[in-house]
Amino acid sequence: MLTTNFGPYTYQNPFMNASGVHCMTIEEMEELADSQAGSFVTKSATVAPREGNPEPRYIDLALGSINSMGLPNRGLDYYLDYAIKKQAEMPHASPFFFSVAAMNVEENITLLKKIQSSAFEGITELNLSCPNVPGKPQVAYDFELTASILKNVFSFFTKPLGVKLPPYFDLAHFDQMADILNQFPLMYVNSVNSVGNALFIDPDTDTVVIKPKDGFGGLGGAYIKPTALANVRAFYTRLKPEINIIGTGGILTGQDAYEHLLCGASMLQVGTQLHKEGPAIFARLNQELSAIMKAKGYQHIDDFRGKLQSITD
Ligand code: FUM
Repeated sequence: MLTTNFGPYTYQNPFMNASGVHCMTIEEMEELADSQAGSFVTKSATVAPREGNPEPRYIDLALGSINSMGLPNRGLDYYLDYAIKKQAEMPHASPFFFSVAAMNVEENITLLKKIQSSAFEGITELNLSCPNVPGKPQVAYDFELTASILKNVFSFFTKPLGVKLPPYFDLAHFDQMADILNQFPLMYVNSVNSVGNALFIDPDTDTVVIKPKDGFGGLGGAYIKPTALANVRAFYTRLKPEINIIGTGGILTGQDAYEHLLCGASMLQVGTQLHKEGPAIFARLNQELSAIMKAKGYQHIDDFRGKLQSITD
């Protein structure tokens, strides 16, 4: 009932982790692979390992989370070695996702050239939206830079590639970014990364709750679902149909998942709530989404995917 088509691939269900949650180590990724998630994505890898920002750098909040992790990761080779071994263990399965992030254009190219020349045959996610590295603006808020990176990347990269985007808040920006993305053979866009540079204050102590960047960090969870849905819908209605959408942001329940699918997403990433509940969340989300589909008389996700209704006279 929950199978979902994503480009040439089919997954048992649309759920997976959002990069950054439960995917730093091989042990965590193995737990995802053994869970009832339909797929999983690795932590965004940089060329060299990174410690990331000082702690506390991730705090669960009543309505979500705030983080400024700063891309801590074990480095490209750690994840690529694992990915190549893992794909050999599951030759008939639809591929999992491999996330990379860079500090500059040259590093993006180095990362993707290494993946291109490797034995990895899965799907690569180019993270153009991390809000948490001090002094490094989110790439995908710079439209010219994004276009020039993609032009460079697609001059040599021939494997399946998607981009992870930050949230946009203006219809003109949806139009401009969609025009850029439509020029390239992207497999997908993933909307959205956390809402960058939010500030949460502890009411008892009058202090910020995370240490990096004086408390400024990416907001996730229930706070951001309406923004995430708007981004999924805006890109679904603007991108060429070959570009699939991954919906990320505010998925806590089967109803949240249903709404992302209704807006046009084909896969769904869960970050904040996975951090709160652990990989057992995927069994719950599968059950809740199936129950909603049954109640509405749907047998397949494609029966309602993208079919959000407008209010007409
Ligand atoms: O700070 C971080 O590691 C988060 C990365 C991201 O949001 O892409």
